[in-house]
Amino acid sequence: MCNTNELLTLRPMTESDLNQIMEIELRAYPYPWTRNIFSDCIKHNYHCLLHEHNDTIIAYAVISVAVDEMQILNLTVEPKQQNQGLGKRLITTLEMTGRELGAKTCFLEVRPSNKSAIRLYQHHGFNEVGLRKNYYPAKKGREHAIVMAKVLL
Ligand SMILES: CC(C)(COP(=O)(O)OP(=O)(O)OC[C@H]1O[C@@H](n2cnc3c(N)ncnc32)[C@H](O)[C@@H]1OP(=O)(O)O)[C@@H](O)C(=O)NCCC(=O)NCCS
Repeated sequence: MCNTNELLTLRPMTESDLNQIMEIELRAYPYPWTRNIFSDCIKHNYHCLLHEHNDTIIAYAVISVAVDEMQILNLTVEPKQQNQGLGKRLITTLEMTGRELGAKTCFLEVRPSNKSAIRLYQHHGFNEVGLRKNYYPAKKGREHAIVMAKVLL
């Protein structure tokens, strides 16, 4: 475990990080992103950021910013490092990045079954603003996506 009060490195994700990212992604989600999705996001200049501790990736995120809106597309903390404030810290960093790029509102989508993520977002000032029906694959058919938003300014 790392002490989350310590200074963590924050840097852009590159192709050479994708072995480590995929190793985390596969353990963090029942329906993980593929390596190609990350690769495309890097190639197409999405903002792909990661936190590192002693050269080991412990959290990462992908955001897109268009005009004055940002979207958090992926936000992941290494499972062994969860529940010690890293998610909160990464969201704060993402919001700062979005603001610097001119975003006034931040949107994200989350599964209703992902209670820990929803709690984190609510505690961080996000509110539910919509529902995309049957959006995600799930064990029994499909699962809705809750759309959450936060005003950044
Ligand atoms: C959702 C996710 C990003 C949250 O990250 P996290 O690092 O576990 O979140 P945090 O530690 O910041 O917050 C979680 C809890 O830890 C608590 N916490 C925060 N700082 C803390 C600290 N310094 N010490 C101990 N606990 C702390 C928080 O209060 C929070 O508890 P609460 O929800 O009861 O208030 C993480 O669980 C994850 O990667 N999940 C799998 C991928 C995923 O589902 N991503 C979201 C897709 S929408």
